[in-house]
Amino acid sequence: MLSGSVGLFSRRLAVEGPNRRLISDCSRVPVACGDRIDVGVSRLSSVCWVVAAVGLRVRVEVAGGGLDRFTNPNRPLTSRGSNRLGFRRFSSSASLSVAAAASSSTVNEVDPKREPVSLGHATRPDFPILHQEVNGSKLIYLDNAATSQKPTAVLKALQNYYATYNSNVHRGIHYLSAKATNEYELARKKVATFINASDSSEIVFTRNATEGINLVAYSWGLSNLNAEDEIIVTIAEHHSAIVPWQIVAQKTGAILKFVNLTPDEVPDTAQLKEMLSRKTKLVVIHHISNMLASVLPIAEIVDWSHSVGAKVLVDACQSVPHMVVDVQNLNADFLVASSHKMCGPTGVGFLYGKSELLTAMPPFLGGGEMISDVYLDHSTYAEPPSSSAASASFSLCYVRVYLGVCVMEDPSFSANIQNGWETTLAADGFEAGTPAIAGAIGLGAAIDYLSEIGMQRIHDYEVELSNYLYESLRSVPNIRIYGPVPSQTFRRAALCSFNVEDIHPTDIATFLDQQHGVAIRSGHHCAQPLHRHLGVNASARASLYFYNTKEDVDNFVLALKDTVNFFSSFR
Ligand SMILES: Cc1ncc(COP(=O)(O)O)c(C=O)c1O
Repeated sequence: MLSGSVGLFSRRLAVEGPNRRLISDCSRVPVACGDRIDVGVSRLSSVCWVVAAVGLRVRVEVAGGGLDRFTNPNRPLTSRGSNRLGFRRFSSSASLSVAAAASSSTVNEVDPKREPVSLGHATRPDFPILHQEVNGSKLIYLDNAATSQKPTAVLKALQNYYATYNSNVHRGIHYLSAKATNEYELARKKVATFINASDSSEIVFTRNATEGINLVAYSWGLSNLNAEDEIIVTIAEHHSAIVPWQIVAQKTGAILKFVNLTPDEVPDTAQLKEMLSRKTKLVVIHHISNMLASVLPIAEIVDWSHSVGAKVLVDACQSVPHMVVDVQNLNADFLVASSHKMCGPTGVGFLYGKSELLTAMPPFLGGGEMISDVYLDHSTYAEPPSSSAASASFSLCYVRVYLGVCVMEDPSFSANIQNGWETTLAADGFEAGTPAIAGAIGLGAAIDYLSEIGMQRIHDYEVELSNYLYESLRSVPNIRIYGPVPSQTFRRAALCSFNVEDIHPTDIATFLDQQHGVAIRSGHHCAQPLHRHLGVNASARASLYFYNTKEDVDNFVLALKDTVNFFSSFR
């Protein structure tokens, strides 16, 4: 006979009733088949989750009212009368009957005959986090668009930095500082090579992509935009590519214009082309949508924009980790990405900017590292990225080079000091304060790891996974998948945002996690204007990376069907 326990789901979960049992933090109350638990309705959905999560099925009986719709993706999560999970209040009390109902899902094991050497199978061993159980099930991690997992090589690079040469960069004269600086600058070079920038001085390390966009907004935007200038953005942008431009527009009087979706649910590039005029000063556009999975023709968009004199800022958060991105081919003026979505650590990202643009931009943040000289009444700044030796005086490392005092034992240090640092230290003009040194070094290790696999190989494998995911999901009853149908015209990235009729996406995500160990995302994915356009407040999203396999997809879809059955049984 199945039994389980009602445990902590929300931080203060109370189970109330005749025998009034209060479950405080971390306590667990045993429940078994046949038990009845009376709960306040406000706790009901939480208790349902927990009971269900231990393999028991609950039947809800409502005193003085019927069971309204269990969930509704269109209902705001926080509106009056709805609880956090979108579970509508319909009565002051309810009781749960706990019945035996073993989960109908069975976890598919890897079938070595089907795909013995897929990239997913080959790389999974590199990711220790993937090999664990979550809520009693094998973890299936499908939230890669939010953040990726990290291979051992990256974990080791971080450990090695902190264990053997932790030190500040660009300022110490000692061995550790020189090595840290060397590795930090090497990471910048790796980023430049990875996206084919013409020089590493075109790479500015930021905290993440969001900071990169803000850097362009506050530095380039505020000094180049005037009233009536136009900024073109699509309605499918991530909030981080919309909000900074709203702020800039408020400050400068510039006008934000939004590109809509086509009936195929991709941003309408024909409309964008028509919107372009001499008034357009900037186009801010994603390469791959984090919700629609659509892939945009950036090189063409850049051509059209340049023909009217507009600059283009590309949000490449969802493309750089998954495909070859060549900034010289794209000819974009600015491009941003985040390390944590490409197997690297959190806390670091990068902005690519054409050298002539970065050179002309004023500093973004003020402080140490980005200055040349500070006086009480004014400061001078580190030279912009293109000019190199001119910035020499602010760094002890330079003093070393100038004096020829290269005392490091590793011969590559002195070579790098003489050949490399001069050209990259100048990027500090935008890197105020101590940077994310370990983060950048970890990102460098991630780039090594990805490059060893090959970005084209990653892309090709993900196209296969993407089609498999899309086709498999279509078999789920009452599902609505957003974005284009994959075809010759539309390639989709390996993610699907979806809703299932009358089931809130947060309910889906919670049940998948609690009952099946499947990690997906639910919510608006920082794309509220897009969700609003699609007529929903939220969606569920499964997003894959190269270490996922078709078995992951199979198990996810099986688990999703079980989830749908579970909720449908309440109707
Ligand atoms: C398309 C897109 N742009 C921007 C961002 C923001 O990235 P970060 O939070 O790392 O700055 C994300 C993150 O989800 C994204 O998917």
